Amino acid sequence: MKLANSRTESCHGYFVTCFFSIVVVLIMFSYYFSSSLVNFSSSKFEFSSSSPPPVATFELQRSVQISDRQIQAVHLTASSSDGAITAVNRFRNSTTTTVIKKLSTVVLRKKHDLIMIKHGLARARASILKAASTRNLSSNIHNINDDDFVPNRAIYRNPGAFYQSYLEMERRFKVYVYREGELPITHNGPCKDIYTIEGRFISEMEHGAKRFRTSDPHRAHVYFLPFSVVWMVKYLYKPLTYDLTPLKQFVADYVRVVSTKYPFWNRTSGADHFMLACHDWGPNASQGNTQLYNTSIRVLCNANTSEGFNPQKDVSLPEIHLYGGNISPKLLSLPPSHASRPYLAFFAGGLHGPIRPILFQHWKDREDDMIKVYEYLPKDLDYYSFMIKSKFCLCPSGYEVASPRIVEAIYAECVPVILSNHYVLPFSDVLRWEAFSIQVDVSEIPRLKEVLMAVTEEKYRILKENLRFVRRHFVLNQPAKRFDVFHMILHSIWLRRLNMREMDR
Ligand SMILES: *[C@@H]1O[C@H](CO)[C@@H](O)[C@H](O)[C@H]1NC(C)=O
Ligand SMILES: *[C@@H]1O[C@H](CO)[C@@H](O)[C@H](O)[C@H]1NC(C)=O
Ligand SMILES: *[C@@H]1O[C@H](CO)[C@@H](O)[C@H](O)[C@H]1NC(C)=O
Ligand SMILES: *[C@@H]1O[C@H](CO)[C@@H](O)[C@H](O)[C@H]1NC(C)=O
Ligand SMILES: *[C@@H]1O[C@H](CO)[C@@H](O)[C@H](O)[C@H]1NC(C)=O
Ligand SMILES: *[C@@H]1O[C@H](CO)[C@@H](O)[C@H](O)[C@H]1NC(C)=O
Repeated sequence: MKLANSRTESCHGYFVTCFFSIVVVLIMFSYYFSSSLVNFSSSKFEFSSSSPPPVATFELQRSVQISDRQIQAVHLTASSSDGAITAVNRFRNSTTTTVIKKLSTVVLRKKHDLIMIKHGLARARASILKAASTRNLSSNIHNINDDDFVPNRAIYRNPGAFYQSYLEMERRFKVYVYREGELPITHNGPCKDIYTIEGRFISEMEHGAKRFRTSDPHRAHVYFLPFSVVWMVKYLYKPLTYDLTPLKQFVADYVRVVSTKYPFWNRTSGADHFMLACHDWGPNASQGNTQLYNTSIRVLCNANTSEGFNPQKDVSLPEIHLYGGNISPKLLSLPPSHASRPYLAFFAGGLHGPIRPILFQHWKDREDDMIKVYEYLPKDLDYYSFMIKSKFCLCPSGYEVASPRIVEAIYAECVPVILSNHYVLPFSDVLRWEAFSIQVDVSEIPRLKEVLMAVTEEKYRILKENLRFVRRHFVLNQPAKRFDVFHMILHSIWLRRLNMREMDR
């Protein structure tokens, strides 16, 4: 097993992480979760507009299991939040005259931090709910402070709620990144090729994102487990064995270390912790710890609901393919929007998974001027040139549900045609995918041409125009920029944290 990683593979070159930060071990009963001021969990938090949301949409409600020990501790403390604040004030007022045991200082400060977090979240929930119900975008727009931001109502479920939630995230959200673990498998990830988002997210979280990161774990809303499943596969997996035990073992060990060393994991059984993986085997690796699998926020490209992906707590991560670390220049300078797109639909890719065989069976190598479906694109033809000359880009699942084609199609302003089963689309809790893509049932593949021809010129024009608005949410910037893909991922995590039902006392 290699211990160091080559420079080209890391997003930020080498850096030193220090481990073994000594944390004051806190007594369990200084923590408790109690009802929020606004009992958000009992009200529905929808980003949908008036039309009923599609099935997988999101009245996010999560209950958090708390261990017996903590429930007992809650009874022991038995103080209201106001009581605790008073206690802190009384303590502060009297520091000069009274000597109070150091322990109670720590306990009170931590309790105070927890109350502040709880109140902050309650305020955020209230303001988002208010924005959601007023549905008045204009009162939000002037807060955005982003000159090139053009809100387009059509692409969001509820633009007002989304903007407010985003602003609240910027204002409050704090992530603690565990320092445990060594390079290359932790604190690093791939920064090019198909799984690039793993490395770019870890890198942004560790080296950028100052606004969202806290070095004080007591002030955090969520805790990040910064390991890379791609690097686990590279360094721990024995090729061709299909034995994923070493990956699960690594994950199990990581959780064991942080849950023994810090009080945070046990406090919520990991519900306010998250991992992120784009590798197909991300869900398998997460099986290393049952609580991580069942309770934590798993941010995954392989967001297959038939394989345990739970949209109420897990986050669907877009797959972005960066050759050599960059987007193809062809996708950066598109032809003018009125330029003609001679092909109706395009696909080129390998024969993987359950859906592509059906697509190939009906459409591969057909002498059709409008539908271009290749298993392997002939060497003299250019993939991205096809994309920008096609009206629709077919995005069938391969070995796993996600496909980098979806993001490439968005960049190419080629309306994505989603051909998948059990796939939860990225950011679908805030974005209306139907406003900028087409979903075709796998059983309709034989009729694909008919289905696409039936899209009217007017509808196509709107879909294409909306792609231009949604693009910014799928762009990887270094450093990250507001509303880009890094922030959208973070927002998805923020939303799940907001919807975590905190323990009623
Ligand atoms: C402590 O000080 C704060 C602010 O100065 C004040 O509001 C509060 O009433 C004081 N509490 C006590 C118990 O004296
Ligand atoms: C929307 O908000 C703006 C600014 O706050 C206000 O002037 C306008 O009257 C509101 N419109 C509606 C329909 O509530
Ligand atoms: C990964 O998990 C899925 C779903 O549980 C399973 O079908 C697949 O066989 C696993 N892959 C490997 C290599 O174990
Ligand atoms: C959390 O729970 C596990 C399993 O019950 C235990 O081994 C560990 O010591 C606990 N962690 C802390 C910080 O108490
Ligand atoms: C995790 O979820 C599975 C299936 O829902 C359930 O059988 C199992 O008991 C859960 N495990 C824990 C530790 O909650
Ligand atoms: C999603 O999961 C189901 C159940 O394991 C599996 O049959 C299907 O092939 C998966 N989809 C993809 C595209 O991998």
